[in-house]
Amino acid sequence: MGNFAIFRLFLCHSLLGLSTAVTVYYAPGQNPFSTTSADVSSYTGAAAYNPTTIDPPALPDPMPSLSLNFNIQTNAPGLSITQSGAFMGFSIEMSVANQVLGKNSSILQVPFLNLLATISQRAGAVRVRIGGNSQDTASQVATLDDGKVLEKDLSGVTNPTETPPLVFTPDLLYMMRNISDFVNVRWFVGIPFNDSSDFRLEIAQSAQEILGDYLIGVQAGNEPDLYAAHSHRSSSYSQYDYVGELGSLIDDMSQYSNLSVAQNLLLIPSVSGTWTPENVWDTGVMDTYSSNIAWMSVEHYPTDNCYAQYGTGTPRNTTELWPTYLMHSSAQSLVQPYLNSTSYAQTKGKPFIMFETNTASCGGFPGISDVFGAALWGLDYGLLMAASNFSGGMFHVGGQSVYYNPFISPPTNQSSYRQWTVGPVFYSSLVIAEALGPSNQSQVLEIGAENQSTYTPNYVIYENGQPVRMVLINFLSDSSGSSNYTANIAIGGGQTGESNNTPSQVKVKYLTASSVSQKGDYSWAGQTFGGNFESDGRLQGTETIETIPCDQSAQVCSVSVPAPGAALVFLTDELTETEGAPSTTFATTTVTKTGNTATIDASVLATSNGRNGSSPLGSSSKGSANGVLGLRESISKLVVLFGVGLISAIGLLRS
Ligand SMILES: *[C@@H]1O[C@H](CO)[C@@H](O)[C@H](O)[C@H]1NC(C)=O
Ligand SMILES: *[C@@H]1O[C@H](CO)[C@@H](O)[C@H](O)[C@H]1NC(C)=O
Ligand SMILES: *[C@@H]1O[C@H](CO)[C@@H](O)[C@H](O)[C@H]1NC(C)=O
Ligand SMILES: *[C@@H]1O[C@H](CO)[C@@H](O)[C@H](O)[C@H]1NC(C)=O
Ligand SMILES: *[C@@H]1O[C@H](CO)[C@@H](O)[C@H](O)[C@H]1NC(C)=O
Ligand SMILES: *[C@@H]1O[C@H](CO)[C@@H](O)[C@H](O)[C@H]1NC(C)=O
Ligand SMILES: *[C@@H]1O[C@H](CO)[C@@H](O)[C@H](O)[C@H]1NC(C)=O
Ligand SMILES: *[C@@H]1O[C@H](CO)[C@@H](O)[C@H](O)[C@H]1NC(C)=O
Ligand SMILES: *[C@@H]1O[C@H](CO)[C@@H](O)[C@H](O)[C@H]1NC(C)=O
Ligand SMILES: *[C@@H]1O[C@H](CO)[C@@H](O)[C@H](O)[C@H]1NC(C)=O
Ligand SMILES: *[C@@H]1O[C@H](CO)[C@@H](O)[C@H](O)[C@H]1NC(C)=O
Ligand SMILES: *[C@@H]1O[C@H](CO)[C@@H](O)[C@H](O)[C@H]1NC(C)=O
Repeated sequence: MGNFAIFRLFLCHSLLGLSTAVTVYYAPGQNPFSTTSADVSSYTGAAAYNPTTIDPPALPDPMPSLSLNFNIQTNAPGLSITQSGAFMGFSIEMSVANQVLGKNSSILQVPFLNLLATISQRAGAVRVRIGGNSQDTASQVATLDDGKVLEKDLSGVTNPTETPPLVFTPDLLYMMRNISDFVNVRWFVGIPFNDSSDFRLEIAQSAQEILGDYLIGVQAGNEPDLYAAHSHRSSSYSQYDYVGELGSLIDDMSQYSNLSVAQNLLLIPSVSGTWTPENVWDTGVMDTYSSNIAWMSVEHYPTDNCYAQYGTGTPRNTTELWPTYLMHSSAQSLVQPYLNSTSYAQTKGKPFIMFETNTASCGGFPGISDVFGAALWGLDYGLLMAASNFSGGMFHVGGQSVYYNPFISPPTNQSSYRQWTVGPVFYSSLVIAEALGPSNQSQVLEIGAENQSTYTPNYVIYENGQPVRMVLINFLSDSSGSSNYTANIAIGGGQTGESNNTPSQVKVKYLTASSVSQKGDYSWAGQTFGGNFESDGRLQGTETIETIPCDQSAQVCSVSVPAPGAALVFLTDELTETEGAPSTTFATTTVTKTGNTATIDASVLATSNGRNGSSPLGSSSKGSANGVLGLRESISKLVVLFGVGLISAIGLLRS
C-alpha cells in the first residue's frame, strides 16, 4: 500500500474577477441535461447524456454452461508479451482538449486529474493521446485571446466527421506538462498531415521541448487510408504514397535539432480498415524507417453510426446490434484481423497499439455505448488485445456530441453546477489497470474451459510465470440471479509433475450493475463514479472486497460471477489497487464568492435547480469562504485547477 496523500484544493471564484451570479434558465420540459425520468422520444439535448436504453437481450436458448472448471498452470504456454498496467489509455479528440484537460496551463480540470489518478494508482502511469481527425489541420499560433489554448474555425469544416480546423498555442503543451506533474500521464501527440509539402512541425517541437520524457509517441498521419475518401488526397492515394510522405516528414524533421527525440518516436500507420496494416508493412516501411518508428498502430471501431449522424453510409439497427456487443465473439472479431500484425511487430521489436477505438465510430449508439454492457465489452476487448500481444489500446473521447465518452466534462455553460459524467468504458480501463498492475511484467492468457460459451470469457494474468489474478466475465443479463456462473479454479492441480498450489482463499472484486442496460452508477467493488453529471473523478462509496474460502479437500476455489458482471480474482495476497502510485485525490473544496453573489455548492445544485425545467439557479448563503484563508497560507504550486468546471482559483495544499 502506498502513502495516502490528499491534495486539497481551495477555490476562490473572485480571484479571477468573475463576479456575475450564475443563472441558468430552461423553458419547462426543455432541460437538455435532465438525468431522471426523461422523455426519451422528445430528448433534444447533447448525445453524451441521451436517456435511450434498449432492453437486455433475451437469454440464449439453450443456455450455456454456468459452471466452468479451470486448471491454471504455472508457466503456461502461449502467454502474451509482458504488458503495462497502463494498457488501456484514452484518446482525446484534439478539438475537445480544452474541455477535458483544462482551460490552459494555469487552469486544470480537477475531475480529469482525479480520474487519471485512479488509473495511475493501479498501473503506475496513464497514457493519453491528444489527436484524432482534428489534429490533421491544426496549426500552432503564438497566442490566442483570453488565455485560450485552442480555438476552432467553424467555417472550415471539410470532412464527414465535421472536424473544424484548429489553432492551438504552445500553452496546450504546457497544460499537458503541468498535468504530468500531478499524475504520471505519458502523452501522444500527432503531426498535422493535411499538407505533406509543408509539414507543420511545431507541435512536435513544442512537445519535445515541453513534455520531455512525458512524450512517448508522435503520430504521423491519422487514418491515411481514408484520406482519399475524405478528399484530403487524390483518389489514387495509396500506401506507397503514404510511406513516401512519411519519408518526407522524416527528412524534414531531421533538419531540426529540437526534433532529435521526436523524430524517433513516430507512430504509424494508424490505418482504419480501408487498407490492412499488411498493405503498409509490405512496403518495407518497418525496415526503411526502423529507427524512427516507436509504435505500430491501427485505429478501428466495430461498426459506425455515420448514417444517423451524417446521412452517409449504412443505416444501423441498434436493436439488432446490441446483442452482438454482449458476446466474446465481438472482441474476437475485432482482434483477429491484427494477429498477424502483433506477431510481425514482435519480429520488428516494436509495440503494436490500437490507437483509437470505442463502441462505434461517428459517435457510437445511444443505449449501447453508454450502458453497463459497454463496460463488459470494453473489459473483454481490452484483455483480449493484451492476450493477443497488442501493447495498448485507447478509448476515444469525442465530446458532448458522442455517446461513447469514457468521461466528459459538463457543457461549458453548465459547468458551474454540473459535475462530470463517467462512462462505462472508463470502468473497463480501471479494471484492466488493476488486473495488470504496475509491474510491467504481467502477461495475459485467455483461458478456455470445457463447454465455455461466448457469454463467459476468462483471462489469467501471470507475473514471472506464476498465475496471480483472473478476470471472469459474464455477459448474460438476468435479474433473477439464475444465470450467475461459477468458475471452479484449481491452480497447478492435475498436471503431472506439478504440485497443487490452490490457495486457501481468494479475494474478489466485482464489476456489477442491475442489468447490461443500466446507465450510470456502475459498481466497482461497491464504489462508483455515479450517473450523469455526478462525478468529481473520485470513486465514491465504501469499497467491498470479498474473501472467498477455497475447498481445501477438493483443492478448488469456486467464484460466482453475477449475470451481468465481472470478477477480478486475486490468487495471491497481493492487491494492486494502490501499487502503482499513492492514492491521490484532488478535492475541490467548493467555491466561494466573497461578497454578494452565489456560493455554488455543486453537490446541492446537481440535485436541485439544474434538474428542474423552470427554476433559475439560486444563490445560496455566504459562509463557506474558509478556502480563501487556506490558500493564502498554503500555496505550494501555482497551478489553478477548476473542479466542477469552475474557473476558479488558486493554491494546492498537500496535507
Ligand atoms: C492544411 O491545413 C491548414 C490549416 O488548417 C490550411 O491552412 C491549409 O490550407 C491546409 N492545406 C491543404 C493542402 O489542405
Ligand atoms: C489562463 O486563462 C486565464 C483566464 O482567461 C488567464 O487569466 C490566464 O492568464 C491564462 N493562463 C495562461 C498561462 O495563459
Ligand atoms: C504550469 O505551466 C506554466 C507555463 O505556463 C509554468 O509557468 C508553471 O510553472 C506550471 N505549473 C506547474 C505547477 O508546473
Ligand atoms: C525549434 O527550432 C526551430 C528552428 O531552429 C525554431 O524556429 C523553433 O522555434 C523551435 N521550436 C521550439 C519549440 O523550440
Ligand atoms: C503477415 O504480415 C506480413 C507483413 O505484412 C506479411 O508479409 C505476411 O504475408 C502476413 N501473413 C499473413 C498470413 O497474412
Ligand atoms: C430493427 O430490428 C428489429 C429486430 O429485428 C426490428 O423489429 C425493427 O423493426 C428494426 N428497426 C428498424 C428501424 O428497421
Ligand atoms: C503472443 O506472443 C507470444 C510470444 O511470442 C506467443 O507465444 C503467443 O502465442 C502470442 N499470442 C497470440 C494470441 O498471438
Ligand atoms: C448552453 O449551450 C448550448 C450549446 O451551445 C445551447 O444550446 C444552450 O442553449 C445553452 N444554454 C444556456 C442556458 O445558455
Ligand atoms: C514500467 O514501465 C514504465 C514505462 O516504461 C516505467 O516508467 C516504470 O518505471 C516501469 N515500472 C516498473 C515497476 O518497472
Ligand atoms: C459439458 O457439457 C456436456 C453436455 O451438456 C456435459 O455432459 C459435460 O458434463 C459438460 N462438461 C463439464 C466439464 O461441465
Ligand atoms: C447472483 O449474483 C447476484 C450478484 O452478486 C446476487 O445478488 C444473487 O444472489 C446471485 N444469485 C444466485 C441465485 O446466486
Ligand atoms: C420546478 O420548479 C417549479 C417552480 O419553482 C415548481 O413549481 C415545480 O414543481 C418544479 N418541478 C419539479 C419537477 O420539481
